[in-house]
Amino acid sequence: MRKILFASSEVHPLIKTGGLADVSGSLPLALHKHGQDIRIIIPAYRQCLEALEDINCVATIKLDGVYEPVEILQSTLPNSDVPLWLVHSPQHYDRQGGPYCKEEGGDWDDNAARFALFSRAIAALALNQAGLNWQPEVLHCNDWQTGLAVAFVSEYANRPKTVFTIHNLAYQGLYSKDVFDVLDIPNHFWHSNGLEFYDQLSFIKGGLIYADHITTVSPTYADEICTYEFGYGLEGLLSYRAGQGRLSGILNGIDEQEWDPAIDDNIAKNFSIKNLRNKRQNKIAIQEYFHLPVKEDVLVIGLISRLVSQKGIDLSLEVIDRLLESELAIQFVCLGSGEEEYEHNLRILRASFPDKVAIHIGYDEALAHQIEAGADVFLMPSRFEPCGLNQMYSLQYGTLPIVRSTGGLEDTVVDATEENRKNETANGFKFGPASSEALENTLYRVIDLFQHPRIWRKMMITAMKHDFSWENSAKQYDALYEKIN
Ligand code: ADP
Ligand code: GLC
Repeated sequence: MRKILFASSEVHPLIKTGGLADVSGSLPLALHKHGQDIRIIIPAYRQCLEALEDINCVATIKLDGVYEPVEILQSTLPNSDVPLWLVHSPQHYDRQGGPYCKEEGGDWDDNAARFALFSRAIAALALNQAGLNWQPEVLHCNDWQTGLAVAFVSEYANRPKTVFTIHNLAYQGLYSKDVFDVLDIPNHFWHSNGLEFYDQLSFIKGGLIYADHITTVSPTYADEICTYEFGYGLEGLLSYRAGQGRLSGILNGIDEQEWDPAIDDNIAKNFSIKNLRNKRQNKIAIQEYFHLPVKEDVLVIGLISRLVSQKGIDLSLEVIDRLLESELAIQFVCLGSGEEEYEHNLRILRASFPDKVAIHIGYDEALAHQIEAGADVFLMPSRFEPCGLNQMYSLQYGTLPIVRSTGGLEDTVVDATEENRKNETANGFKFGPASSEALENTLYRVIDLFQHPRIWRKMMITAMKHDFSWENSAKQYDALYEKIN
């Protein structure tokens, strides 16, 4: 049994903006099942305080750069025995709004202070400085919000080994030198082999420079981030760390309690490979829910996403618009929220084709399950995708994903070429260039194949048979913790 402190800025089902929460709410469970003594640490956001019934204050600590004492609250991750620590600083986290953004949109102005404080609290617990009498052997940090913690603990001889996981290199936590000064971070961290990145403070570099090992969430993304196209100027550092054998890709798994069509109680009718016909009830349910004509032979295209350019939303909208213009038998169902321009364009698309396009702007967990269950195909033409969970949920629900070959999409989706169909490995549709032409051509292939129910059904079965559970990936994390110790 190994003691592991797992630090993340979001954890499902308490607080979620994307896949990081799904991973933080399920990987620790898998590791706990493997017998690890793993504990999670997150900020005590208002949503967490409201959702958790059983919370105790177990320590009060003073941290550098913060005058008020900070409380460490203890609870357990809902529906599990995994201990959860919450960093309680009401002025930083107990407020109305999201974990990173205000309710009306835009980042919180004090995000640097909020996540520097979080990182300092993580470091204090990782170094057993909070009087909790528990010293982890491994500190596992995730994304830029926890990057400084890795830098802070690096100063201590009795520190745990550190793993830093990149879920998305596009978000780095970059701030000015003034912010660095205000945060009271020791000056010796200010150099290009430290936290400085082209004259800015980079939170993520805390993880990239100081961690004993860096992981990212798919093998292909681990290679991609070492290139100019995906590296955002960090490719040199990442290539260097890869050369040291200190960067690797471990594919995410999915929480099979949450995402299994056979037991999912959010959906109209449960189904599995054995009773695949039941999936139809979910297609009818989603068409009825959105007041679309209930038709079985129409291809229902689902999309659930943060509406940001990473996800290729512009490509999707352009191509769907063109296909609807040509009166093809498709319906488009979209759930998402994000950049205003995309929300606006979605509304325009719905206004142009009211009986073929349905949208829900907002965040709705149950509806996400219903769309996964009811759609025939799932659209995810991401420009880059570190792992991507939705294509795996789609595969699990027999909803064939249409993806661009990048990151985790490349590693999980096998294109419906003739050869792959023959050897029964095809489980979706994949294309190369991030262009609307390439996506459009792929959608023609999809529409064509949809006319062949026997081939389609075979692909659904291949998709649903694949094991995307955490079991395999958790073993790889176990092996990594063992190796670095
Ligand atoms: P990312 O983390 O980049 O957003 P992932 O595919 O890894 O992408 O994870 C996205 C997660 O967020 C999935 O669980 C998906 O269902 C969920 N999600 C995204 N947007 C919404 C939304 N508007 N409503 C409900 N769930 C959403
Ligand atoms: C990030 C990535 C996504 C990944 C998720 C969980 O949000 O954008 O691809 O699946 O983290 O690792």
